[in-house]
Amino acid sequence: MKLTDLQKDMLEGKYGKGTQLAMKVQVGVGKSFGAERMVPITRAHVALSNQDADLWLAEKMANLGAKCKISPTVNPGWCIPYFREKNMGDEEDYEMMQRTHNAYKKLGATLTYNCTPYIDTNVPNFGEIVAFSESSATPYINSVWGARSNREGANSALFASITGFVPEYGLLLDENRKGNILVEVEADMKSPFDYHLLGMCGDKIGFGIPVFKGLPKTISKESLRNLGAQLNTSGAYDMYHILNFTPEAQSMEMAFGDKEPDRVVTITNEDLENVLEDISLKGDREIDFAMFGCPHFTLDEVRYISDKMNGEKLKKEMWILVSSHVKHLADIMGYTDSLEKLGAHIVPSTCPDQPIWKYLEGKVGVTESPKCAYYPKRRGIDFVIRDLDTCVEAAITGRVR
Ligand code: F3S
Repeated sequence: MKLTDLQKDMLEGKYGKGTQLAMKVQVGVGKSFGAERMVPITRAHVALSNQDADLWLAEKMANLGAKCKISPTVNPGWCIPYFREKNMGDEEDYEMMQRTHNAYKKLGATLTYNCTPYIDTNVPNFGEIVAFSESSATPYINSVWGARSNREGANSALFASITGFVPEYGLLLDENRKGNILVEVEADMKSPFDYHLLGMCGDKIGFGIPVFKGLPKTISKESLRNLGAQLNTSGAYDMYHILNFTPEAQSMEMAFGDKEPDRVVTITNEDLENVLEDISLKGDREIDFAMFGCPHFTLDEVRYISDKMNGEKLKKEMWILVSSHVKHLADIMGYTDSLEKLGAHIVPSTCPDQPIWKYLEGKVGVTESPKCAYYPKRRGIDFVIRDLDTCVEAAITGRVR
């Protein structure tokens, strides 16, 4: 790889051992992908996970004196003050989350603890080169904003934040951003939930960059968020295109270049129904709780739930996971108090895939997000997956259809 003097100095350790290690790994990654050079980034997002390997690396880099040149936003772990006040979690949990917080703080990260930074806190412009990890974030910034990032891991995004560079390969290059699968959507796409299910069709769509055709003219940010999140739950997708909607797919020629699609896939209502049947526990049963916000819910979704509940008290607890800034707005606008009185909690900076939820072990919840159901399963928490309206009704009545 051809490195600039600055990059060579980093590699030789002139900027400290932490930066040296980060650059060493990045050059190795670059070589393995055939990159010819490193290019500067302007933004980053690190999928902090507050799990052993994540903490090990963050502390190692911090102890080596690494500092982020580009301060990345970070994913949620769980919110210490919120759960302390509720008296949930044990000392071991607190220690781990506190150490994660301290390590990322020392590294100079922007401690947003939110997995949807592309909606309001870390929004790239068209063509901007960035390093984003997190399943819904990478496809959103590539596909919807037309920015450029490979599907970084938490570790490679952290290294990029430290050096300020990424190896130039993959989606950073024009020729690799073309679609190769035409996905004709015949299913009725009426709500953000349908985009969750469309994203879960990864098995049928197959490997590559899908170009969706037949989607409605207007698609909400929540639907686009859900599509990316679930494409990376059912498969591994760096980006997608939506014909006549996303910026690099204003025509078939733009979306596919001069090539024909490798394959054409049709997604029908029946496909969505089948996928739901595959991934959800069977309905018509009692539930113990409801959980939403994987990925984090927007203020509009909080408002939607509040309107839907219309003052009705919940029979079962409801957890709505949001960013700290959405929580702040919910506080100011009175949603936090009014929903709390009815049995719904608006929780900031927290992910369902965290040990803090161990008290839900053995219980059955409802959620509208397949990803929310997927990760907690390994912690012994199961879910019935239904559209948001059905889930809210289930929390009110205690039973899901
Ligand atoms: Fe976000 Fe955690 Fe879900 S990071 S997408 S809330 S698994």
